[in-house]
This record gives sequence, C-alpha cells and structure tokens, in this order.
Amino acid sequence: MAQQADVFKKLVAHCKEYGFVFQSSEIYDGLAAAYDYGQYGVELKNNIKKYWWDSMVLLHENVVGLDSAIFMHPTVWKASGHVDAFNDPLIDNKDSKKRYRADVLIEDLIQKIEGKIEKEVTKAKKRFGDAFDEAQFKETNPGVLANKKKIEVIHSRFAKALNDNDLEELRQIIIDYEIACPISGTKNWTDVRQFNLMFSTEIGSTADGAQTIYLRPETAQGIFVNYLNVQKSGRMKLPFGIAQIGKAFRNEIVARQFIFRMREFEQMEMQFFVRPGEDQKWFEYWKEKRMLWHKALGMGDDSYRFHDHDKLAHYANAATDIEFKMPFGFKEVEGIHSRTDFDLSSHQEYSGKKLQYFDPELNKNYVPYVIETSIGVDRMFLSVLAGAYNEEEIEGKDGKKDTRIVLNLPPVLAPVKLAVLPLVKKDGLPELARSIVNTLKFDFNCQYDEKDSIGKRYRRQDAIGTPYCITIDHQSLEDNTVTIRYRDTMKQDRVKIEELHGIIADKVNLREVLKKVV
Ligand code: GAP
Repeated sequence: MAQQADVFKKLVAHCKEYGFVFQSSEIYDGLAAAYDYGQYGVELKNNIKKYWWDSMVLLHENVVGLDSAIFMHPTVWKASGHVDAFNDPLIDNKDSKKRYRADVLIEDLIQKIEGKIEKEVTKAKKRFGDAFDEAQFKETNPGVLANKKKIEVIHSRFAKALNDNDLEELRQIIIDYEIACPISGTKNWTDVRQFNLMFSTEIGSTADGAQTIYLRPETAQGIFVNYLNVQKSGRMKLPFGIAQIGKAFRNEIVARQFIFRMREFEQMEMQFFVRPGEDQKWFEYWKEKRMLWHKALGMGDDSYRFHDHDKLAHYANAATDIEFKMPFGFKEVEGIHSRTDFDLSSHQEYSGKKLQYFDPELNKNYVPYVIETSIGVDRMFLSVLAGAYNEEEIEGKDGKKDTRIVLNLPPVLAPVKLAVLPLVKKDGLPELARSIVNTLKFDFNCQYDEKDSIGKRYRRQDAIGTPYCITIDHQSLEDNTVTIRYRDTMKQDRVKIEELHGIIADKVNLREVLKKVV
C-alpha cells in the first residue's frame, strides 16, 4: 500500500513536470481542488472526450448531442431535489480541526480490512506455490473468514445508516470501530452533519433584485429540461438518448487525491429515454456497453469492476459504478443509474408544462423512464494515467542499470502520436524530418525534436507516452527509409517513409477501438 501511495505521488509530480496537469493559480499558492490541464493534458483530455462522444453519438443513431448552459433557472434544482437532498455527511476531528466525510471514513475502513485479506492471500500464495487454491483458502482460512465477517457487519450497518439518513448511527460506526483522524491520530469526533454541495451565486444587479442561482452540480438537468425540444425538433422515437459533455461544480468538502475529487470538473453524461417497464432491460444494456468501452482501451480487464450502490441517490431505482484500480484502491470512475421518471415528472410538476411523450405504437402518452450513464472526464484521465505510468529497469550506458519512466498510454489516447527526430542537426537531416512532419501532421499530432542526444529525446517521448519515434539518419537520405521505434518494446524497425502513415494509422486510429465497442 505504501508503495502504491509512492507511485501516486510520483504520478502527480510527473503530471506537472511533463505539462499534463498544473495546480490552479499556482503562483498564488494554488486554489484547492481546482486544476489546469497543460499542453499534453489538454490533448489527452480531448482524445478521451472524442472517444466517448463518437462511441455514443456516431455509433448509436438514436443518440444525439446537446450543449446546454451552465446557468439554469433556480427552480430546476428545487425540482431535481438538489436543493434539499444533495448533501454529504460531514464530521470534524476536534483536535486536528480537520473535516471529513463520515461515509468516506467508513469506506476507507472497509478498504483497509480488504487490504488485510489480500495480504494474507499473497503470503499464502508464496508459501504454497503452484499448489495454492485461492478460492479454497478464502473460504477456509480463519483469519480471512474473520475479516470477511467484520466487513459484512460494518457494511450492513453502513448501508442501513445511509438509507435511513441516520447520522447518529454513522458516527457510532466510526466510534465503534475506533477510526482515528489520520492527522491527529485521535478519535475525538464531533456529531455528523449534512452539508449541501451546490455553489451559489447571483444573477442580475442588486438594484434589479438579484436572483440566487447555482452552478450546475451535474450536466444531466440540462438534458432533462431539453428532452422535449430535442425529441420534437429531431423527430426522435423512444428509445433515444441525449449526450452532453460539460463542466459541473460541487463544493466538495473533502477534496483530495489530486484530480479524483475536484470542485470544478467535467462530466460526460448520456440520458437514455425509454418506455416505463423497459428500464431494467436498458439498464443492463448500458452497463454492458459502458464496461466494453472501458475495456476496449486494452488497459487490462482486471483493472475494472462493477460496484452496486448501497445507498441509492434520491432519483434512482438501480445504480452501479464502474470502478478502476487506482493506486489508492478500486475507485468509481463512472456511474450508471436507472433514474425512473423522477426528474421529468418533477420538472413537469414544478414547471406546469407537460413533458409527456406520445408513443405511436402504444397510442398513449406517458413520461419516459431514464437510464443515465455518467462519467467524469477528469477521473477517466486519472485512471488512464494511473494505468499507463510505469517505471522500468533497463540496461543503460555501459551495461549499467537505469530506470525508464514510460506512459504506456493506449495509442488512440496518446497526446502526441509520433515524434520525428533527425539524428543530427545538419547534413539535410532536419529538412527531411520536417518534410515528414509536414506530410503526417494533417492526420496525426506530430512533434519535431532535434535537441539533445537521441537517447534523451526517446526518454522525453516515453515520458509523455508517444507511441512512435521516427529517426532520420544518413541512410534515410540515400534510400528513403527511417527507423521507427516502438514505445512499449523499445524495438526498432527500418521502414520506407511512405509506409509510415499506414503503420501509425493502424494503431492510433480511433476507428479501430470504436469497432470493438459496437
Ligand atoms: N448525473 C449523475 C451524477 O452526477 P455522480 O455519481 O454524482 O452522478 C458522476 O457523478 C461522475 O462524475 C462520477 O462517476 C465521477 O466520475 C464524476 N465526478 C463526480 N464528482 C466529482 C468530483 N468532485 N471531481 C471529479 N469528478 C467527479
């Protein structure tokens, strides 16, 4: 675990050093839980967004896009339930004066016990070697069984407390399991209180009677209030979906783990409108589709898992998360929710406008049910980087051991697809290199680099995850061939210049990944 925390620290430093992510307003000592994306970060982020958008909107003829305003009528948030129910349970440690989310403290405790089980399993694996039967060990080992039982008990108390909104019981779990503040190390806790997460501001001048409005905490409501506009203007028939990418804002009290939990972040959400009664079927459909989307990136199927919600949000009748194995454990990257007709019915009631759909096949009006897929761009970004970051021991100069830091990013997401490197800065090599860039730049993000030794240049490209380095040498001038170096294997091939486009397109073309998710 300590080692993993170490990896995470290095990843955060790497993001800054190589222009992926910077702290917001850093020259003023930063603003907590707000981040800026640098020159490579913005490319990676845009590639993630394009992968999502194309998989939703291009691959589904019944899914269309939308770009709604961040500012919305304040009643939207009353109708959606966010004014009354978008809260986090908070608890303060009286000694350190630090504030925590009570639910997160308990989740961390469960994770710690899970970690103990994993440790036992790893130890036993080493002891028994090939003869080790993991399933049997987990079912029979007394230490593992005791920890499993402990998790079960905490889990059921925790789920009940959340569902009953029982803040005293949440505190009692923290007391009973002697959860200590990581800063002060004491168990001197306040009561648990609810805290609303929406940011508010004012619109209009005070003289006109300014109105309090909210920065949207989710993009979804922009879709709900536009669903009939899109349905009518696009002559959409149920089932159909509306996809949107945009910023959302939450006054997270416990903002931590870098870009995992931010106060300003970006969401990619899709609301899929279905006939009442068909919601479970479509919920399963989108669960499967979304998992396929993640796995198609080739970052290892074991890195993902579903996690069904213990406490359903105020709008949902079923919900699951897709979790990714981050350096700090399996964490939510995406939520898939069956939101019933809660939002549309509520907007219908608050606005006084009919939001029903006329179903020509059933010859009847009704308020559709909704399945939502909701993924954070920033969390996806973090999961991709965490999965890609590697420190490899390699043989360096004079046979000495060296460490190579490489981002094994899925090539479709890599910010730079190829670097073109003249071996030396003379003899016409830079000119040939530039002409290759000028041909390939229309299709791929290329980088030209002539500074430093070739070895150093390879390392720089490895560190930003560039899948291909093309080296131009004196032979290139004679026979129009170049070497292509593959980031992951560091192997090199000699190929003709005219073959480059095909070789690179094969691996970095979004089309190849999209074909896996249809
Ligand atoms: N419309 C449903 C909704 O907003 P959510 O589970 O609260 O559901 C969806 O959020 C996704 O948005 C999460 O799975 C996560 O990826 C991202 N997200 C939520 N809060 C975030 C935060 N404070 N910082 C970064 N990403 C966040």
